[in-house]
Formats: sequence, C-alpha cells, structure tokens
Amino acid sequence: MSDKLYPVSADWASRAYVDDAKYKAMYEASVKAPEAFWGEHGKRIDWMKPYTRVKNTSYDPHNVSIRWFEDGTTNVSYNCVDRHLAKRGDQVAIIWEGDDPKDDAKITYRQLHAEVMKWANVLKSQGVKKGDRVTIYLPMIPEAAYAMLACTRIGAVHSIVFGGFSPDSLAGRIEDAATSVVVTADEGLRGGRKVPLKVNVDAAVDKIPGVVKSVVVVKRTGSPVAMKEGRDHYYADLAATVPDECPPEEMNAEDPLFILYTSGSTGKPKGVLHSTGGYLVYASMTHQYVFDYKDGDIYWCTADVGWVTGHSYIVYGPLANGATTLMFEGIPTYPSISRFWEVVDKHKVNTFYTAPTAIRSLMGAGEEPVKKTSRASLRLLGSVGEPINPEAWEWYHRVVGEGRCPIVDTWWQTETGGILITPLPGATALKPGSATRPFFGVQPEIVDAEGKVLEGACEGNLVISDSWPGQMRTVFGDHDRFVQTYFSTYAGKYFTGDGCRRDADGYYWITGRVDDVINVSGHRMGTAEVESALVAHPKVSEAAVVGYPHDIKGQGIYAYVTLMTGEDPTEELRKELVAWVRKEIGPIASPDLIQFSPGLPKTRSGKIMRRILRKIAEDEFGALGDTSTLADPAVVDDLISNRQNRK
Ligand code: WTA
Repeated sequence: MSDKLYPVSADWASRAYVDDAKYKAMYEASVKAPEAFWGEHGKRIDWMKPYTRVKNTSYDPHNVSIRWFEDGTTNVSYNCVDRHLAKRGDQVAIIWEGDDPKDDAKITYRQLHAEVMKWANVLKSQGVKKGDRVTIYLPMIPEAAYAMLACTRIGAVHSIVFGGFSPDSLAGRIEDAATSVVVTADEGLRGGRKVPLKVNVDAAVDKIPGVVKSVVVVKRTGSPVAMKEGRDHYYADLAATVPDECPPEEMNAEDPLFILYTSGSTGKPKGVLHSTGGYLVYASMTHQYVFDYKDGDIYWCTADVGWVTGHSYIVYGPLANGATTLMFEGIPTYPSISRFWEVVDKHKVNTFYTAPTAIRSLMGAGEEPVKKTSRASLRLLGSVGEPINPEAWEWYHRVVGEGRCPIVDTWWQTETGGILITPLPGATALKPGSATRPFFGVQPEIVDAEGKVLEGACEGNLVISDSWPGQMRTVFGDHDRFVQTYFSTYAGKYFTGDGCRRDADGYYWITGRVDDVINVSGHRMGTAEVESALVAHPKVSEAAVVGYPHDIKGQGIYAYVTLMTGEDPTEELRKELVAWVRKEIGPIASPDLIQFSPGLPKTRSGKIMRRILRKIAEDEFGALGDTSTLADPAVVDDLISNRQNRK
C-alpha cells in the first residue's frame, strides 16, 4: 500500500487519446448504455456482414450465455493483416529479436500476409477444416504468429501450449481439445539453452495413441530430430507443395477463436474458450487506449505467446491496430542482465510491457545495468500478471523510466480476454501498487463472503456485474464447469477469484487470489495440480500445496508431503520430488520448499485445513486461529517445528 500519487503530466494529458474528463464521460456512457457504446466501438474492426445486434448476455446461473455482435461476420486474420495492406503494406508488423542478439528480423505487413496465407494452406493440406482445433507448441518465433493467424484465416481454433510445459501437460491439452494436428519446432532456444520441443511432442503423442495424425515441424535450431514417417513433416517441405493464396473464411462473431488452458482451484486445467468478434474488438480497443498506441510507435510486450498476454497484446490487439509489435525469443538476463534495455535501445522501443517478477529480479542486480543503457525512446511502461509491490513499482518508474514514463498496472485474466482494470496514461493519476480504475464497459464490484455488495472504501472479493465483449464464452467441452466456476459463487455475477480493496478515491487494489490458485512469477498454478503430481510419485502418500510470499516470484510453491510408511525423508528424496514435479507439469511448477510431514492438519471429517498450512508456510504461526476442530491438534506442533520458511 502506498499513499503516493503521481499526477498525469501535462504532456501526457495533451498527447493521449483520453484525458481524465474524457475517461469519465466515456466510462459513464459505456455503463449507462452498453449497446450504444459497443455498437459504435465494434466498428473499429472490419465486418463482412455488419452486426445489427450488439449485446445478448445473461449471467443468470440457470442460463449463462454470452454473445456479442452475434449476427455479424468477420475474419480475424483479415483484420490483423489484409486490411492494413493498402495503407501500411511496407510497414514493419513484427520485429523479431532472437535469443542471440545477433539474430533478428523485421516482417512487414505484406510479408506477414504472404506467410499467413502459406501457413493456412499448409494447415489445410494436413486436413484442418473450419472448427477443427490445432495445438501450437512453438517457441517465440514469428512462426507462432503466422500459425495463429493462419488458424483464424481458415476458421480453425488454436490451442497454444506454453513451450515450458512437460509432455504430460501437453498430452492432456491435446487430448482435451482433440487436435489431430500439432505445430511445433525442432527445438526452442532460451538463454542459450536448447528446449527439446519435438522430443516433448513425440513423448506427448505417444501417451495418447490415435489422437494426433500430423505434426508440422518448424526448423528453429536445425538440430536433427526424429521424424516419424507419414506423421511428421517439416513445415518448409509442406509449404513448397501448397498454393500461395488463401482467402479468409467468413466467420460468425460468435464462432470460437481459440482455446487457452488455465489452472483453476480444482481438477485439471480448463480450456478457456474465446470467440471471434467480441474478443478482437476488446483486445484491439484496450491495446489502443491503455498503451495509447499511435502510428509509428514501437511496442514491446515481453510475455510468451503461450499465455493470454501474448495472445492479446503481442499478436491480436497490436496487429488489429496495424501496430509494430516486438516479439522476443530470449530471457531478461541473457547474454547480460541489461538485455531488456539493450533491446529497447536497439529497436527504439516506446512502450514496454512486462511482469513484476521480471522487475523484481532485475532490481536485485542494482541500477547500473539499467543506467548504462539510454532508454531515451521509452515513453510508457506497463505491468501485468500479478500485484506489483510499491517498491518494485517505484524502481521501475524511477530507474527504468527515469521518472518520465507513466506505468499502466493492468489487471486482467485469461478469462477476461483483455485488460479490465488499468490506468490510462493521459487520464489517470497513478498510485504505486494500484491497478486504479475500470476500463470502458467494465463494472467491478466488491462483495463480502456472503455476496453482499460493499460500497465506498472497502475490501472483499472482486466480481464483475455485467459482460464485456472480450469475456470468455465457455469452458471448452464443459459449459457446466464454466457456470460453476464463475457464476455460482455469487449468483448473477462473474467471480474473478481475486481479492480486492477499493480506496476512498475509488481506486482498486488487487490483493491476490482468494481461491486455491497461486501466482508464481506471474504464472497461474492450481495447487491441486501440483498436489496430484506429487501423489503420483510412488513414495508419496499425501500432499498439500500452498503459496507463500517470495521476494522475486511473488509467490513460491510450498509443499507438505506425507510419505508412504517406511520411506525416509531424505534430502535426496526432496530433490527427486522437485525433479518429479518438473517432469510431470513443467519447470514453472517446481516446488520451492518441501516439508516432510508425518500428518496434515485435518478436520474430523477429513478435510485439510489449508488456512493453517498457509500460515505456517508464511512463517506466521502465531496467528493460526482456531485449531480446536482438528482431529489431531498435535500435528500442528510438528508442522511448526519442522517449517521450511524461517524469516
Ligand atoms: C493476477 C494474466 C494484480 C490475478 C493476464 C488474476 C494481477 C490472475 C494483475 C490472472 C495485476 C493479473 N495486478 N494481479 N495487474 N494481472 N493478476 O489468467 O490474480 O495468467 O486473477 O492472466 O493474475 O492470471 P492469468
């Protein structure tokens, strides 16, 4: 929490699309008359057949249904590519910066058009039709954008799986989406290290016999990989055999656009489904206003396309706006800890959008690696993925932005498709650590545990009371789960899963997840997923996973593990379990701390009391609260004396 206020500079208030008065007027209009507001702003994309119906949404738990622009037709790749050709065919669409600073490329809109059409025909040659799903498991190379846009061109639905996920995680996602075609690369390259993508795909496909018919392989490193006859094809070989031209398919606004799997508090990851028209309108509009994007700006979002931030703010939002978007293959610390700022200088980046975890880890190396670069081109900074603590905010503002760049702290989720709560750089006075105010059309409310709507300054759970165009439409293949997860906790409202405080100025401060989801370095992890990976190990009988505060990652993963009778809690086994979870889910799920505990605190009905486990993991065991309902209160003493996090 911070009481500091950073007013909008005169320069920003005059250059931006929106100043404070305009924000207030537009916001007011957007919530008073959503039909009229979105009816107008829906026109920012090109429609083949214009819509006549704007909003048709219901949050009634008996009938959750979300439809926007439902009788309009359009095509996403047309909007992101073709429509820019007349005016900006020779403008750079994608600046690609490789892992090695010597590797880079600039792709114009005209080149992007040719690539996307070629890719679309390659996918067609592998039997992909409108409505089919395609799994994309690629590193951060331009081909990721080509493949995404190619899917949208022919009406296929992409499901991107982050390259850091294990073969098991990949297999689960391929199977759930039932994709017969997988697009991958021989290897990825990050921080000078090779990532065995094709090897992982082979292992994943073997786990789910009969699902995958074709694997399209992009050569990234050129290392030899096993190619299975009849199933695996190098992209270049297929491309040589297909035509150059591919017209965009006419899609209904509500046709599915992509699936993206995300962790929830229970069970396996959910396939969040976004649809065509509303998503694109919302992604492009937020990109324009939040980043105040103007022609000629160089815009860089450091996310991976495997996460929603990469979908909306590397690819779809920027390209729909005819922007120049930078795509970075590498990591912030390679080959040097100044890499981000060197890339900023090299490409004269104006807008830089990253995650707090990156800022915190760079802060640790001090100011010198930043100060030795110029960063004169920077005008605006952004933050996403987790709460940014005021110290990191101040450092980002003072050291990276030299006090002259506003920071847009953007709160949103995979489910929301685009940014919901955020400052606008020409309109909003900033408070370090606050995501500030809602974007147009977004109606946040704070409710208490019983669902009572709280007024004024308050703290509770964050819900959204009405729909916006970028909202997810369903959980792929499981509409009931969609309703249960988001609309049943507080009937008639979208429940975000986040806690939130509103201050006297009406500013929102996200306090973190209130469910069993933890946020590790800006990546969402379901504690249930890590637990099921642990109990799959033959020596583990039971596991409970909670988050705890971590200086760099925001939250770390703390696992309580009960071993099978007779197994020894050795240091070796601890290492083995960490490696096991990495193998089962992926490196992002590695437990930071493992506590071997002979028993877990359970109620008499056998329910694990996570509240107690969280407190002990936080090293706050003085405040355990009532433990009298535990079946065996003595368990707690053992947990405390063997705790792994001692501040
Ligand atoms: C958290 C990432 C505080 C939040 C776009 C949310 C944030 C979850 C912020 C979604 C922010 C995201 N301030 N918390 N600016 N942005 N979060 O689906 O807990 O990967 O529910 O989407 O990240 O994570 P997801």
